[in-house]
Amino acid sequence: MAWLPTLLATTSLISPVELQPGFSESTIARVRTNLIQCANRSWELGTAAEALTELSWPALSVFNKTAFPPPAHLNATLNATDVLAIANRTVSAKPPDSLPLIANEGSAADPASIGVAVILANWTLPNLSNQVYSKAATDQLTYLLEDTPRSESGAISHRAQETQLWSDFVYMVPPFIAYYGALQGGENGRVLLQTAYDQCRLYRDALRDESGLWKHVVLGAWQDNTHWATGNAWAAAGMLRVHQTLNHSSLAGQFVAQQANLTQWINEILETSWAHQTADGGLRNVIDNETFYVDTASTALMTSVTYRMAAIQNTTVFIPAANLALKLVQENVDAQGWLLNATNPYTFDEQLKEGEHSPEGQAFILLLHAAWQAFIQSTSPYQHPGAITGTHGAINNL
Ligand SMILES: *[C@@H]1O[C@H](CO)[C@@H](O)[C@H](O)[C@H]1NC(C)=O
Ligand SMILES: *[C@@H]1O[C@H](CO)[C@@H](O)[C@H](O)[C@H]1NC(C)=O
Ligand SMILES: *[C@@H]1O[C@H](CO)[C@@H](O)[C@H](O)[C@H]1NC(C)=O
Ligand SMILES: *[C@@H]1O[C@H](CO)[C@@H](O)[C@H](O)[C@H]1NC(C)=O
Ligand SMILES: *[C@@H]1O[C@H](CO)[C@@H](O)[C@H](O)[C@H]1NC(C)=O
Ligand SMILES: *[C@@H]1O[C@H](CO)[C@@H](O)[C@H](O)[C@H]1NC(C)=O
Ligand SMILES: *[C@@H]1O[C@H](CO)[C@@H](O)[C@H](O)[C@H]1NC(C)=O
Ligand SMILES: *[C@@H]1O[C@H](CO)[C@@H](O)[C@H](O)[C@H]1NC(C)=O
Ligand SMILES: *[C@@H]1O[C@H](CO)[C@@H](O)[C@H](O)[C@H]1NC(C)=O
Ligand SMILES: *[C@@H]1O[C@H](CO)[C@@H](O)[C@H](O)[C@H]1NC(C)=O
Ligand SMILES: *[C@@H]1O[C@H](CO)[C@@H](O)[C@H](O)[C@H]1NC(C)=O
Ligand SMILES: *[C@@H]1O[C@H](CO)[C@@H](O)[C@H](O)[C@H]1NC(C)=O
Repeated sequence: MAWLPTLLATTSLISPVELQPGFSESTIARVRTNLIQCANRSWELGTAAEALTELSWPALSVFNKTAFPPPAHLNATLNATDVLAIANRTVSAKPPDSLPLIANEGSAADPASIGVAVILANWTLPNLSNQVYSKAATDQLTYLLEDTPRSESGAISHRAQETQLWSDFVYMVPPFIAYYGALQGGENGRVLLQTAYDQCRLYRDALRDESGLWKHVVLGAWQDNTHWATGNAWAAAGMLRVHQTLNHSSLAGQFVAQQANLTQWINEILETSWAHQTADGGLRNVIDNETFYVDTASTALMTSVTYRMAAIQNTTVFIPAANLALKLVQENVDAQGWLLNATNPYTFDEQLKEGEHSPEGQAFILLLHAAWQAFIQSTSPYQHPGAITGTHGAINNL
């Protein structure tokens, strides 16, 4: 692989940067299989659906200018079967009297993360008289907007039984509300797009402190004021999806100032986080506390946001940090396709023990791979089409 940086440096359109080779396709296939096998909780299924969309069906993802509207009928080469299977399984199991897509989760927010896949299923259904997906998505939206407690400022609670704000919310809810709005269009759609943005803004107002990083949990019966790395990555990645949904919707021109703010808020998290990057490329589980272990899961999600932002903004400022982080994540995927050295996603403050896995961490690897591919494509749109768009190009094989 020694030839690779030289080759690309001489052909790249943007300022030359070292490029870290991507994951091999066989690694990604194993990571994907494991993700599908172990994703079980509501937010894991929602994150899996998003990761599978970005990985295998990029034309349908909000990062693509072709996202709105999706085709009315999906054909054999663009069928999104793995994504629609998650929507099918969720909607099939939904009790008729539940407004949320998954009942009794405790979190008001997490089930909404599956909503994007449910809306996609509705818009691409072969049978137009099937209202099941549309009703399920509408119920989920109604639950968030009308039945969930709010903070004094108007932030929708992450929890169902009390008002409590978690940084995780930003990945679970605003991208769903924005996607719903982008497809509705018109005045209703505009209001929903603004609501998605406002929830990002209100969450930032509540969670960000003078460090530039976000706390994990405020309000309610207990708090976690630490700058949890996964929470900061959820926030950055959620705001990025909202930015891209606004940017690719037919109403984009009405959301220029909102997009500019989201860009600034994402960059703030990236800049502050990478300032604390460890020598081996990682982020600590609590970003600014040196007593903590390096967490490969949050490192993967933050790196995906970094490559995406570089592609969208045509800048390479955080690419050296991202390349180092990508290398660390690659070294931490075992031969069976499991992410090693990830934080425990259920307790937040301890490493997984041997044999335990992080379903969200598996999804973050796929998000990272999709983002890396988009970045490579943006740096060199036509010089090496085989290497950058083909799934079997040399660049993809370590
Ligand atoms: C990206 O930025 C470089 C300069 O850094 C410029 O030459 C190039 O045209 C830009 N590409 C796009 C697509 O704007
Ligand atoms: C998660 O797994 C448990 C036990 O295998 C199962 O009962 C439950 O239905 C699963 N939940 C979802 C959302 O698939
Ligand atoms: C948009 O979708 C097309 C068609 O699948 C794909 O070639 C392209 O890479 C996608 N672009 C992005 C930024 O996802
Ligand atoms: C499948 O649908 C996509 C999106 O509508 C289209 O770009 C593609 O050409 C279609 N493929 C075939 C084989 O019809
Ligand atoms: C869906 O698409 C995949 C990948 O393009 C293909 O392998 C599979 O056969 C398709 N399934 C159906 C039912 O068309
Ligand atoms: C889910 O898929 C199964 C098998 O194709 C089908 O019988 C069922 O009606 C689907 N459920 C929904 C809600 O569409
Ligand atoms: C389409 O969906 C409607 C409502 O669920 C159902 O009554 C009808 O049988 C379906 N048609 C086909 C061809 O599956
Ligand atoms: C479901 O799809 C139909 C078009 O097939 C659309 O009119 C309706 O608004 C959609 N529902 C949602 C919640 O997006
Ligand atoms: C979409 O985002 C790009 C990059 O941030 C920006 O240059 C462009 O103006 C945005 N488009 C619209 C319609 O807002
Ligand atoms: C953007 O952020 C600034 C500073 O927080 C704020 O004053 C302004 O109102 C925001 N713009 C919009 C459209 O929300
Ligand atoms: C870092 O975390 C440890 C363990 O939770 C805690 O005891 C210590 O006070 C924290 N340090 C800072 C500067 O927050
Ligand atoms: C995983 O973390 C342990 C320490 O917790 C370290 O010894 C090991 O080298 C790490 N594995 C990799 C591949 O970085």
